[in-house]
Amino acid sequence: MSGHSWQMRRATEADLEAIMLLESSIFASDAWSSETMRGELGNPHAYYLVAFEPENPDAIAGYAGLLAPRGAPESDIQTIAVDENARRHGLGRALIGSLVGEARRRGAKEIFLEVRADNPGAQRLYAEFGFEELGVRRGYYQPDNVDAIVMRLLVTDPATALAVGSEVSP
Ligand SMILES: CC(C)(COP(=O)(O)OP(=O)(O)OC[C@H]1O[C@@H](n2cnc3c(N)ncnc32)[C@H](O)[C@@H]1OP(=O)(O)O)[C@@H](O)C(=O)NCCC(=O)NCCS
Repeated sequence: MSGHSWQMRRATEADLEAIMLLESSIFASDAWSSETMRGELGNPHAYYLVAFEPENPDAIAGYAGLLAPRGAPESDIQTIAVDENARRHGLGRALIGSLVGEARRRGAKEIFLEVRADNPGAQRLYAEFGFEELGVRRGYYQPDNVDAIVMRLLVTDPATALAVGSEVSP
């Protein structure tokens, strides 16, 4: 992980093994099973991305997934993980940005996610995109007995988002 430049592509079931290597080392007691992950990758309502360095396309540096049935108002960010050696170079931000864009393209009006209460780094990343805390699910993460913070992003209409960012004189 030297150059810190990555590309992203849609994940397929062929990425299952590489994703599970990261999943089991990063999430430890919260890790999904291989079967759960396979189901996610094959779910037509889901959208999973993997990130890789262009010179090493078989090594997965991170992945993230969205569940967003087309036309449904609600969607969920299911997971995100970045290899420890690749962190703090903007890859997590790029992955979340791509999922938010896809949720918008699919017509979602809201994106929900859960994040561990003891994970302030991820909370900060989500807050950067405008995710706001909705509530707490006590003891959601077992066996660690850690609370989940539920966050929600109201998906803006692209035209509105543009208008807010532009500088139009009266
Ligand atoms: C959370 C995670 C995906 C972030 O990936 P990343 O590629 O390091 O994130 P980025 O470099 O894009 O960070 C973007 C911003 O998020 C915030 N952030 C990310 N990690 C942070 C940390 N450890 N501490 C504080 N802020 C953090 C910062 O605001 C950061 O901007 P900055 O680096 O300019 O300060 C990564 O740390 C990870 O895989 N963690 C383990 C798995 C996990 O917790 N997943 C989330 C489950 S809900």
